[in-house]
Amino acid sequence: MTEKKRIVSGMRPTGALHLGNYHGALKNWISMQDSHDCFFFIADWHALTSNYEDTGDIPSFTRQMIIDWLSAGLAPEKSTLFVQSHIKEHAELFLLLSMITPTPWLERNPTYKDQIDQLNNKDLSTFGFLGYPVLQAADIIIYKAQGVPVGIDQAPHIEITREIARRFNYLYGNVFPEPETILTEMAKILGTDRRKMSKSYHNAIYLSDTPEAIMSTVLKMVTDPQRARKSDPGNPHVCNVYEFHRLYSPESMVSTIDKECRSARIGCVDCKKMMAKNLIDVLAPIRKKNLYFKDHPEIVDDILASGEKKAGQVARETLEEVREAVNL
Ligand code: TRP
Ligand code: SF4
Repeated sequence: MTEKKRIVSGMRPTGALHLGNYHGALKNWISMQDSHDCFFFIADWHALTSNYEDTGDIPSFTRQMIIDWLSAGLAPEKSTLFVQSHIKEHAELFLLLSMITPTPWLERNPTYKDQIDQLNNKDLSTFGFLGYPVLQAADIIIYKAQGVPVGIDQAPHIEITREIARRFNYLYGNVFPEPETILTEMAKILGTDRRKMSKSYHNAIYLSDTPEAIMSTVLKMVTDPQRARKSDPGNPHVCNVYEFHRLYSPESMVSTIDKECRSARIGCVDCKKMMAKNLIDVLAPIRKKNLYFKDHPEIVDDILASGEKKAGQVARETLEEVREAVNL
């Protein structure tokens, strides 16, 4: 039997997960649990790189995120689940990697420039923010990951990780594999306003939303913008509600809606209600588990403790090798 490939990935603690997070990352992680040796963690130190002024939400956001992971199907008996800042070795490796990482690699990182432009209300001219990819590299190679499942936006960071691993191996001897990027297909679903689904745009549907919240959010969704009246034929292929139907409704309903939308036999409100009902049904078990884990915090604590134990052991072994290679 060949050993399972090890993969590592993380998410910054942003609180409750929405469907964009689910389809953009979590669903893929869940599907890799049987075929891979998975390490998944909450990147709370990374949250500080851009949010160092306001850290108050980190504990509750971390908690909600792990609960959403578990509720959606990440399983502690399959995957190693933990919080980044609990494994102090990440920080030690980060420090050592920072010694060998040329700053131009970080300055030309496209996400660095994008974020500085986008988050222009924050002062991001910090050492920590520039070093974001170095910390990310430490997160990954500390477990000697062979692959990193991420969305396309993170691809430049994995490229930097590979370069750092290569440089370390060149300088000190072969310690780290160079991890592959395992790209997650992005689902086409958008937020209610047809922008990217995002917490900060207030256009998201959350895994833990109540049925009432889901219905009211769906009813606010922008549909085919060309379709002003019920009597106008619509084009489902430019409609976000239709993309949701494709994910959450039975195939027969999807093809009926396709036809009836084009011939103006169904109105958008009815179409949305049908979709919302299916979405509510799909999310019901996740919501139920959410409530269960919130009622049983000790179960979540135990899961994190055992993940931490496993991750800590691997991290400590790697650091021993690293210190020896660096002559420390
Ligand atoms: N930068 C990632 C993001 O914003 C989060 C992250 C931190 C990560 N460390 C990682 C992802 C290591 C993969 C591997 O989504
Ligand atoms: Fe979209 Fe449905 Fe309205 Fe057609 S009927 S435009 S698919 S919401």
